[in-house]
This record gives sequence, C-alpha cells and structure tokens, in this order.
Amino acid sequence: MTVKLNDKFVTPFVAAHELENIRPALSAAYKTLMDRSGAGNDFLGWIDLPVEYDKEEFSRIKIAAEKIKKSCDILVVLGIGGSYLGARAAIEFVKSPLYNSLKKDTPDIYFAGNNISPNALSELLSICEGKDICLNVISKSGTTTEPAVAFRVFRELLVNKYGVDGARDRIFVTTDKCRGTLKKFSDESGYETFVVPDDVGGRFSVLTAVGLLPIAAAGIDIDALMQGAADARKELASDDIENNDAMKYAALRTILYRKGKVTEIMVGYEPYMLMFCEWWKQLFGESEGKDQKGILPDSVNFSTDLHSLGQYIQDGTRNLFETVLNVKDCGCKFIIPDDPSNVDGLNFLSGKELDYVNKTAMLGTLMAHTDGGVPNILLEIDDRSAHSLGYLIYFFELACAVDGYMLGVNPFDQPGVEAYKKNMFALLGKPGYEEAQKELLARMK
Ligand code: PA5
Repeated sequence: MTVKLNDKFVTPFVAAHELENIRPALSAAYKTLMDRSGAGNDFLGWIDLPVEYDKEEFSRIKIAAEKIKKSCDILVVLGIGGSYLGARAAIEFVKSPLYNSLKKDTPDIYFAGNNISPNALSELLSICEGKDICLNVISKSGTTTEPAVAFRVFRELLVNKYGVDGARDRIFVTTDKCRGTLKKFSDESGYETFVVPDDVGGRFSVLTAVGLLPIAAAGIDIDALMQGAADARKELASDDIENNDAMKYAALRTILYRKGKVTEIMVGYEPYMLMFCEWWKQLFGESEGKDQKGILPDSVNFSTDLHSLGQYIQDGTRNLFETVLNVKDCGCKFIIPDDPSNVDGLNFLSGKELDYVNKTAMLGTLMAHTDGGVPNILLEIDDRSAHSLGYLIYFFELACAVDGYMLGVNPFDQPGVEAYKKNMFALLGKPGYEEAQKELLARMK
C-alpha cells in the first residue's frame, strides 16, 4: 500500500467498539456509492477514471504538453476552484513550491483567473513582458467570472503579440465536451480543446485534462500519476476497514465528528504540501459543508505553524482533530553542518540529517497534541512521486464520497457557491438581476 493509516495517535480517542458500531453505516454508504444509487450519482465518473480515461485524449495531452514546453517560457493557467487547485497542488507536491525558480527545461507555470485581484493580474502581466507565452484556459461552464476576465486579458495579449494565427497555436482550452459558450468560441477560433467529462465535478477533476495538461507541461509523469490512482482504485475496493485505510479514515473522521470534533486540520511537514492541503480543503469542504452540517477542513504547515497556530492546537477549544501527512522518503539528503562556535548550542545535531530532525519534530508534536486532547490520524505515504500522489488523490476522493453519504448530504453538488455570485452579479448590474439589485441596495441603506 502506498498510503497507510497509522492509528496509534487516534485510538486513545476512539474505542474499538465505536469502530465496530459504525461499520453498518460505512458499508451502507460505500454500497450507495458503488451501486451508483445515491444523490449526485451523475457525477461518479471519477470512480473508474484511473482506468477508463479517454486514451486518445491522453495522448493529445502529452503532445500538447510537448508543444507547450517547446514554444514558451511561461504557461499561464486560467481557472478557479476545481479547475486549478489540483494541477497547482500536483506541481508543487512532485516538483516544488519554488518550481518557477528551479533550473529546468520546462516552462514557468503561473496560475491566474483564480481571484479578482487587479494587483495579481497586473503583476503577472509584467512578469510576462518579453516572454513567450502559452495559455491553458480551464472552465467547465466557460462562464465563471474570474477565469473569463483573465482570458479576455491574456487572449488580447497573445493576439497582439503573435497575431490571430500565432495566438491560435498557443491557446489550449479545457472545457465542457459540447455545451457551453467556451467550447463554441474555441471551436470557432480554432483552439485545441480538451474535455472536462460531464460526470466529473470540478473538485474531482484533477485526473482529467483539467489537471493533466498543466501537470504534464511541468514535466511530471502523468502515466505514473494515473497508475497510482489505478492502484488505489484496485487496493481500496472494499468497505473493509481492516484492509482499506481510506474506509478506516472515513470511519474515524465520522466518529470524531459525531463526538464534537467539528474541525479537521490537515498537517504537512514540508512546504510542498501546502497546495495539496488547499486541494484537499476544497474537496472536503465543498462536498460535505451542506445543510448546516459537515467538518470544517483546515490546514497547517509544520513546523512553521507550530510557531503560530501551535498554541491554539495544543491548548485552545477542544473541537478539532488532525490528519498528519507523513511522507516517509523525503527524497533529499541534507546534513546539518557543524559549527565550532556552537553559538546556538545545537552541535548535538551536527552531522545529522535535517529530515531526521523534521520527523522527530513530527513525532514530538503528535505526542504533545494527543496529550493536549487532539486526536491525530497519521497517514504514511511512501514518497512524493507522481505515483504516490495519484494514489493519495484517489484515497481522499473515495473517503470523501463515502463520508458525504454517511453525513446524509449530496457530496457532488455545490449549491452554496451560487449565493455570492448572485449578489455580485446583481450589485454589478448584470442584465436579468434588476430586482435582486433593488433588494440588495435597499438593504445597504
Ligand atoms: O468544484 C467545483 O465544481 C468548482 O470549484 C468549480 O471547479 C469552479 O467553480 C470553477 O468552475 P468552472 O470550471 O465551471 O469555471
């Protein structure tokens, strides 16, 4: 198993009979998912995706990635939410959060269209000056405000720089298969398009062209990524918590939630895990946070945040639990140098590996937080390879879907996301929102 659950630091909080008692609910939820009989069952394409993906498109993704690598210094990826978090998480996890600053033979990759910040857009435009650019626009609906505004800006930039024909070769669009204005516009403009499958929602779409094209452009082995997910699909195909750690994770977090642990903090010990935690937060937050229910997903990066949020976790309100990502093979040997002056008193660490210190900090923290009343689920991951990442992605997707059904919500919709959009469009005066605008303006008086 590429990902193993170590329950040593959670068993003090969950008795054996509690795990026993939750089995029927877990099995029922698992069955609902696999029978495809639950709410949102038209969005279950992710279950078989690791083996049943479109092989022809997969080859086109690799060809497009090679073309991007050869023809630009910067790939700008436009998308928001599920249309960008997975790719960014994968590039940082497998390569580095400092990917753009590394020596490499692949283009820098910047993510835009994931906010409405004029500063962020202006700064990126100035970074792009004098550089060769390619664009990957990712939007299932094709009408999401944030990437759509950024697309206007970057399309104009590319057309001005390369002409209409030149720009056409540099714009890659990932969107709905046939519906939607972006697909129509792309076909009319001659842009190469890739598909967000109808039955895969944004936050479950990292293993489709949504994630795969930018990930491949960063030089990451997407075959290995898919193989990792395929291995997880095979190894995690049961509701047996003894042999399926994704189900055990799902069971434990539901038990903890029912005991009042309403916040889950995903813990990483390497900065390269930060964006992966952001992806995980969307996956669980958007899937479970419904009908005034659900665990709030949060995240920290230790040891950095032990010097900020550590106090709260150790000693604050006792309504939280942690899930710790322990990547066993750090993949890098860094030895702490000796300092004859020993001014910091740390010569007892001279010659030791920095990863040994990092892992020891993790062990000490696991014990301290458990002593402080915080249950800790420990997930041990082999390494930071594309294969392990693919496995981990599928592990969480599966656990998330099963927990959503145990919670009694539809894990595959996101009706709450519309509320802010409705108000924003009304306040901005979008045609068709006149009544709503009047109501909102009256409320502001
Ligand atoms: O998970 C989701 O469904 C969302 O995060 C969407 O991916 C996000 O809102 C972007 O939507 P779209 O791809 O239609 O632009």
